[in-house]
Amino acid sequence: MKKKICLLPGDGIGPEIIAEAVRVLETVGQKFGHEFLFTEALIGGIAIDIKGTPLPQETIDDCKAADAVFLGAVGGPKWDHLDNASRPEKGLLGIRKALGLFANLRPATLFPELAGACLLRPDIAARGLDLIVIRELTGDVYFGEPRGIETQDGKRIGFNNMIYHEDEIRRIARIAFETARKRRRKVCSVEKSNVLDVSRLWKDIVIEEHAAYRDDIELSHMYVDNAAMQLVRDPSQFDVILTGNIFGDILSDEASVITGSLGMLPSASLGASAPGLFEPIHGSAPDIAGQGKANPLATILSAAMMLRLAFDMTKEADLIENAVRKTLQEGYRTGDIMEPGMMLAGTQKMTDRVIKHLD
Ligand code: IPM
Ligand code: MG
Repeated sequence: MKKKICLLPGDGIGPEIIAEAVRVLETVGQKFGHEFLFTEALIGGIAIDIKGTPLPQETIDDCKAADAVFLGAVGGPKWDHLDNASRPEKGLLGIRKALGLFANLRPATLFPELAGACLLRPDIAARGLDLIVIRELTGDVYFGEPRGIETQDGKRIGFNNMIYHEDEIRRIARIAFETARKRRRKVCSVEKSNVLDVSRLWKDIVIEEHAAYRDDIELSHMYVDNAAMQLVRDPSQFDVILTGNIFGDILSDEASVITGSLGMLPSASLGASAPGLFEPIHGSAPDIAGQGKANPLATILSAAMMLRLAFDMTKEADLIENAVRKTLQEGYRTGDIMEPGMMLAGTQKMTDRVIKHLD
């Protein structure tokens, strides 16, 4: 198969980890007779530096012309002084909107090899942690209008608008139910309907959409504050967490960090049609950029997710995931997941081991 992949390395450790994941993809391509054609485009801080905007039009065009988009990370202290409308993050929000990527899939799993790094009490971790946050990605307070900072009677007020149209809720709910069908068949819809009108609508629409899935999918509802607590108290109760953009932003960070392996977790952002966007959950880690220390595994696992979800290459994705497991079983660790008795490896060495295990 021939597939066009648009690389958006971005800032900080982004370029290093994307380069390593590309080595893995090339090896897999050779092995299975696929041709991956890579193009590269600018996003985030680097795009601000070179083009004066975090999301140049050429980047949008290149992404639209590809079969999938593969992103590193954006942002860093260098651009922290900029106002919200021109920050690197605006590039990421813009590409999500431009490609219509309304569904963000963020799995949080505990790798048995890394159980020691889990932040939870051992008896809680022992019950298991294997969930996926399905976060709506192009609506909510992130994009709602009106927004801004204005002066009224000599005092400034800041405001954003938490808004959802029922069709936006319907389509993300269906993604959650479909995802649950391939997992343990449980969806927990998270909102704040005891306070927010928009959440009241969210809950009603999710219940309506559930009608078509009633026979095999169990639906429950939880307020977001309780969900934040339950994630720490007993994450094993969750299979699919369905939620809006801002709650999903917060809960997906929480869900991933409690595994102790933030540097291990991939994500996918999907729209109604190709191309989807695949990226590690972690950020640009400017403090270790350029030092060859970054953990490439989340990006390599994001490449596997791309093969599985965008190209239907199940065997290829399985092979990469197994190679990552074998690398951990061998005892190699980057600094972020290092434990006594293990072997410290840098970005390249870690990838070399993964590539070795593709054989
Ligand atoms: C994420 C990030 C982004 C978000 C930022 C960088 C704009 O936190 O992907 O979760 O808030 O969506
Ligand atoms: Mg976030």
